[in-house]
Amino acid sequence: MSGEMSPIDTAKFVAAKRAAMMVESGMRVGLGTGSTAAWLVKCLGEMVADQGLKIRAVPTSSRTAEQARSVGIEVITLDEAKWLDMTIDGADEFDGDLNLIKGGGGAHLQEKIVATASERMIVIADASKSVQALGAYPLPLEVIPFGRDVTRGLIEEALTGMDVMGRDVSLRMAGDAPFVTDEGNHILDLHLKRIGDARQLSLALNQIPGVVENGLFLDICDTVIVGYGDGRVEMRGLDGADGAERMALDDAGNLFLDPES
Ligand code: A5P
Repeated sequence: MSGEMSPIDTAKFVAAKRAAMMVESGMRVGLGTGSTAAWLVKCLGEMVADQGLKIRAVPTSSRTAEQARSVGIEVITLDEAKWLDMTIDGADEFDGDLNLIKGGGGAHLQEKIVATASERMIVIADASKSVQALGAYPLPLEVIPFGRDVTRGLIEEALTGMDVMGRDVSLRMAGDAPFVTDEGNHILDLHLKRIGDARQLSLALNQIPGVVENGLFLDICDTVIVGYGDGRVEMRGLDGADGAERMALDDAGNLFLDPES
C-alpha cells in the first residue's frame, strides 16, 4: 500500500493506522480534522466494516462528521458523549513538551473543546511537524465577525508586549471572502515566527473581547505518534519515551514491530 503513496501520505497513514490500533470497541472517540485525521477516519471505517469495531465518535468539524458517517462510524454529539476515552487529531506543530499549534484547517475551536473533554489526546503527525519552539506556523485565532477589525487592533496591541519574533496578523481568506468556521466565525493568523512564552500568550489572547479561542494546545496532548515516509512510526510521550516503540509497514499496509529497533 505504501508503494502507491507519496512519502508524506505514507507518513500520515502509518501514524493514523497506529493510532487506530489503540481504539477498542465500546470507546467514545473524538475525531480530529485535517488530512492526517482523514486517514484515521478511513482506518476506523475499515475496522468498523471488517472487524466489527463498535465505537461512538464525536467529530471536530462538519467535514469530519460527513466523512465519519460515510464510512459507517456512529456519530454522536459531545453533549451526548459527555466524556471521551480518547481524541485522535493532527497538528500543525508540536514541541518537545507535546504542546501544539493547531487550526490550520480552521477547526481548532471544536478540536480544543473535544480534546479537553477526553481522557487522552493522541496526536498523529508526520515528522515535519516536530519543532524546537512553536511559532513558525502561523497561530490561528478564531474571532467573531462583529467588530473584527477592532479586535484585530487589540490583538496587534497585545502582541507588542509579548515574547514573540514576528507580529504580523492576516485575515484568513477562502477565495475572495473571509474563511468562515463551523461556528460562523473568522480566523486571524498570527505570524509570530517564534513564541517565547506560549502560556502567557495564550492567556493574553483569550482575554481580548471578540477572540473566541487560539490554536495553542498547552498541556492537552498526551502522546504524539510520528509517522515517517518509509513507513516507520515512533511514539513520543510526556515521560520522555521517545523512540520507545518503532514499527514498520509491510507491503500489504500492515504495521508490525520493527525487529531492528
Ligand atoms: C485543523 O483545524 C487543524 O488543527 C489540523 O488538525 C491541523 O491543521 C493538521 O492538519 P493536517 O493533518 O492536514 O496537516
